[in-house]
Amino acid sequence: MSLIIFLVECGIELIPKRLREHPAIKRNLSMKNYYTQLLDNALHYSAMKKLKNSEKRGRPDISHLCLLNALGSPLNKMGKLQLFLHTINNKLFEFNPEIRIAKNFNRFKGLMAKMLIDNGIKFENEFLISPIKISLNEKIKEFTESKDSELIILSRRGKLISSYRELYKGDSSKNYILIIGGFQKSSFSEEIHNLTKNIISISNESLNAWIVVSRAITFYEISLNIY
Ligand SMILES: C[S@@+](CC[C@H](N)C(=O)[O-])C[C@H]1O[C@@H](n2cnc3c(N)ncnc32)[C@H](O)[C@@H]1O
Repeated sequence: MSLIIFLVECGIELIPKRLREHPAIKRNLSMKNYYTQLLDNALHYSAMKKLKNSEKRGRPDISHLCLLNALGSPLNKMGKLQLFLHTINNKLFEFNPEIRIAKNFNRFKGLMAKMLIDNGIKFENEFLISPIKISLNEKIKEFTESKDSELIILSRRGKLISSYRELYKGDSSKNYILIIGGFQKSSFSEEIHNLTKNIISISNESLNAWIVVSRAITFYEISLNIY
């Protein structure tokens, strides 16, 4: 049994070409520094206003916090967590459990920009971040069709649970596949919503994505006695 997390519709993208002449972007952009090439709402807000879906875009900070929480967990250190990041532009990557994510935000942004430019991150011929060549839908289907598994969308609008046991049901033979939105505002796209009707809420509150990542992993660790 393992836990598989898809962090979806994350605001990780290179600055779109048509925005590159905007003064708010030009000011910081340097082709030598990878980190300046990532769209970041905190720096580029005025240039981003007219972008479609702008409320979900330019938020590498959210992915950063989610990844630090997930990859630093005891579950990941035991090799029992599979972690995928899906971007707002439908690119999909899998993180090697052994990758060390920089805590420094600019270094993290540099890593994400390099991941997008080079289509993955390799070290000594091994992928630390692998590109997934099939769509999110197809990847999830691979899991749900080939193994005993349960697909769950985590959302404030789902059925509220009162205990972690309702989330994982103590079934040790199953793989649990969780979908968590890597964005601050707005809701899942139609395509994500259509993946399953199994939608669960873990709190009465709308929580930050990294809190949900952390709790979902902690609940799972408790249900398997992993500390
Ligand atoms: C900041 S929220 C996105 C905003 C949206 N209003 C919402 O509450 O779903 C980021 C992600 O955290 C997860 N999330 C937030 N609150 C949750 C809750 N109470 N139960 C389960 N998942 C939650 C969802 O996956 C959501 O896409």
